[in-house]
Amino acid sequence: MEALLARMTLEEKLGQLNQPRGLPSVTDAGPPEDREEQIRAGRIGSFLGIRGAAATKRLQRIAVEESRLGIPLLFADDVIHGFRTIFPVPLAEAASFDVAAVESSARVAAVEATAHGVHWTFAPMVDIARDPRWGRIVEGSGEDPYLGSLLAAARVRGFQGSDLGADDTLLATAKHFVAYGAAEGGRDYNTAEVSERTLREIYLPPFHAAVKAGVQAVMAAFDEIAGVPMHANRELVRGVLRREFGFDGIVISDHTGVRELIAHGVAADPQAAGVLALRAGIDIDMVSGIYLHDLPAALRAGQVSQTDIDDAVRRVLRAKYRVGLFNDPYRYCDPTREQTRTLTPQHRKAARDMARKSLVLLKNDGNVLPLSKQLRTIAVIGPLADDQRSMLGSWNGAGRAEDVVTPLAGVRAAVAAGTRVLYAKGTSVSGADSSGFDEAQAVAREADAVLLCIGEQSDMSGEARSRSSLDIPGMQEALARTLLAGGKPLAVILFTGRPLSITWLAEKAPSILLAWFPGVEAGHALADVIFGTESPAGRLPVTFPRTVGQVPIYYNHKNTGRPPQPDDNQDRQKPDKNTSRYLDLPPTPLYPFGHGLSYTTFHYADLRLNAQQIPQGGRLQVQVDVTNTGARASDEVVQLYVHENAASVTPPVKQLRRFQRIRLRPGERRTVAFDLGSDDLAFYGLELRPIVEPGKFRVLAGGSSVSLIEATFEVVPG
Ligand code: GLC
Repeated sequence: MEALLARMTLEEKLGQLNQPRGLPSVTDAGPPEDREEQIRAGRIGSFLGIRGAAATKRLQRIAVEESRLGIPLLFADDVIHGFRTIFPVPLAEAASFDVAAVESSARVAAVEATAHGVHWTFAPMVDIARDPRWGRIVEGSGEDPYLGSLLAAARVRGFQGSDLGADDTLLATAKHFVAYGAAEGGRDYNTAEVSERTLREIYLPPFHAAVKAGVQAVMAAFDEIAGVPMHANRELVRGVLRREFGFDGIVISDHTGVRELIAHGVAADPQAAGVLALRAGIDIDMVSGIYLHDLPAALRAGQVSQTDIDDAVRRVLRAKYRVGLFNDPYRYCDPTREQTRTLTPQHRKAARDMARKSLVLLKNDGNVLPLSKQLRTIAVIGPLADDQRSMLGSWNGAGRAEDVVTPLAGVRAAVAAGTRVLYAKGTSVSGADSSGFDEAQAVAREADAVLLCIGEQSDMSGEARSRSSLDIPGMQEALARTLLAGGKPLAVILFTGRPLSITWLAEKAPSILLAWFPGVEAGHALADVIFGTESPAGRLPVTFPRTVGQVPIYYNHKNTGRPPQPDDNQDRQKPDKNTSRYLDLPPTPLYPFGHGLSYTTFHYADLRLNAQQIPQGGRLQVQVDVTNTGARASDEVVQLYVHENAASVTPPVKQLRRFQRIRLRPGERRTVAFDLGSDDLAFYGLELRPIVEPGKFRVLAGGSSVSLIEATFEVVPG
């Protein structure tokens, strides 16, 4: 590589740091002459958003055979939750609490994307999100850094595999570095006001986990922290990410993130923006074109060093070596693989399995679900019942709406031959249209049971899709009221990319199944659970607030000096109720982190520890007995939390530290064992370094963050 670097001109070096957008039409109209001329002149090192064996081969051939040095191009794309076989959105995958299934999902995405010429995905998105107003909460793993870290590493493993040189593995990117999800007001791209402590305890851990899993790239975030935009944040990029975490891969800007330093107000012009970004440690300039056009003048003016440029180029060239492009630049350009590895039955089966696992049964009074397949008539109603496009969620890669099995189609495919399935849209997702209510009521009157498919459309979450309200949009709740008045057994199937404030629905609807956006196999996965082929066992990776006014509300909060009491807010007259609460709401969320029901019940007992005391560096074995006390087999997500009673820094009221998704037959009792070590008990002390302090701890086990049994132990010095 050094020999190659030594032969490169400045323009060729800056070309490796330049990543323009590909053109969707590149497969037919082809990029304008200048794209191809730029490739020949060595002014492009990678492309964003070009797919297809033929399209990538055509451009790759120009780079390899018509440029002076023949350096191959990297082709990058947003392959977030599937390439063509679209899996449930990442927040839904997190609800499965199934690390292996999440890794498999990324593996399938890598197999398909690489078959279409893609070498590099801008995933996993590992931003912790505590504010459901933020549209990109859909793209991450929710509010918990422990779950988020495990899934970040799992997705990196899934995408990158064990051999980056294989033809079905690609470069992964942990994004968006860092605290992008802490945007004030939940407004995308907004300022993140977080302390270093919160950074280290909440937002950095998933990036550290991704780095330890070997992630090859990190993408800078659009936000600023404490007055320094992330694209100019030398302390966090070169300091924490590279020096402290030991990350030696590519740091890429986000889309025009370098140029946006001007809008942030820290750069007067493009050249100043390029200087700040390169100095901060941003290696590749995505789409701005500033590195290519403005760094030569900056170098001549001594504002950047040749070393800064060369180091960045080395990291780009090393990535190309690692994926094997210097050995065989066309290895990912095989049209045969496009045909044989895309949307296969195996991939669809994996997507259906993940979708089933991600469904969260929020309530099920009277066991409305599961429905019998032998019912005479079932009504499937609502604007999302037959909406193929929305089932794909946001960031749906090369996914196509026509691939999707809708809820309506899934129900129709599942019922017995003699069962009628009636459909009415009822209303639109948004707007004030109630003209379809009568038809919906008429359909419901004919039915023995109603499945009401409501919620958000997929374009109401995702990038630049923040909402100031968490209510179900449009007239959908009014439709629910109308249908509930009809008195038929009714289950709401809720589609959304974020927690919604469904307090009225939670009170009045007997059954609510949270489906998120379940991907191409939505209908079949839903039918599997609706008709009881599979018991739901998804659990919430993010808290559901009662209203947007409660936000931010999350499970691992601090206790404060005046913690609210559960019966607070019931009687405002009591003078001793000066606690941290609202006058007009209970202090608890609508549905807590880790919540989810199944078609059976589970009993937790006999939480036992192998020691009452352990030394600071010691380990603790924890066991708990879990029994399926119902009549149906089901998975259960056994959750383990820890809490330190008193420490030199205020401890969260609890923190998830282990979980296991297990399967139990009716009546089956199983001892579930966990092993805790000092990492699990450590926190950032007053000096902001991880420490384990002696003190009393509680271990809590159960099926959610609130229904727990507990035991205590002590960490003693030594
Ligand atoms: C977008 C997103 C980022 C994505 C990139 C390329 O602005 O912030 O997640 O990978 O641009 O599409």
